[in-house]
Parts: sequence; structure tokens; C-alpha cells
Amino acid sequence: MYSPKKLYWEDGLKTGDPNIDFQHKYLFDTFNKLGDAIIRDQGKDNINTIIERLKFYAEWHFGKEEKCMDDHQCPIAEKNKSAHAFFLDMLNKYYEEYNQAGGSTELAIKIHETLSDWFLNHVLKTDTNLYPCIHKR
Ligand SMILES: [Fe+2]
Repeated sequence: MYSPKKLYWEDGLKTGDPNIDFQHKYLFDTFNKLGDAIIRDQGKDNINTIIERLKFYAEWHFGKEEKCMDDHQCPIAEKNKSAHAFFLDMLNKYYEEYNQAGGSTELAIKIHETLSDWFLNHVLKTDTNLYPCIHKR
């Protein structure tokens, strides 16, 4: 049986912008809901609804975060943009594959694992670079 890793937000993940932090928490929560939906076998439609929410919310959030990095002249702003494009591309491909496969649980597990690991790692290693840019001076 699948035991999905839960994402927990902690102070070490702070970006220095409370709105961005709030959006990260919401995304963590959405990943955790996806994990729960898989364990409870909630079916293709429910899992699709959560993946769609991830798609739209992540895209909107990335736009906000990219603007914030640009505004604060963060040296990794461009690197962050390409990472976001990579994530959205991966998410869109998985979404299509999941629907073409008729909602395979095995694939849902792979999607959950891959995307939630990627996202946690991204917040930790890339987004936290915002902190010193916001708090310079
Ligand atoms: Fe980011």
C-alpha cells in the first residue's frame, strides 16, 4: 500500500514574503490532499480535480513569485523562471498521460511522489534565496 510522504511547512522554508509563504503552504496542502485521495482510492475524477487545482494554482503562484524576485533583483530570478517552466511542463505531461491511461493508480503515485519531492526541494533550495534579497540593507 502507498504511504505518501506528507509535506510540512517549517520556518526554514520562509521566503521573507508572507504572501508567497502562504501560497507555498496552500500548495503543500494540495499535494497532501492528492496523496490522501490516492490512498483512499477516491477515483480518477477526484484525482483529476486535485491535479487541475495544482496546475492552475501553481501557474498563478509562479507568476507572483517571479515578479517578487524581479522586484527585489534576486540573482536567481531567471533560474527560478526556468525551473517553474520545467515543473509546469512536467505537470501538464503527467496530466495528459494520466488521462490517456484512464486514471492508473500506479501513475497517480508516481505523479504525487515526483511532483511533491520536486516542489519541496525547489522551495528549499531556490525560493528561500528570496529571503536575503528582501531583507538586504
Ligand atoms: Fe520558485
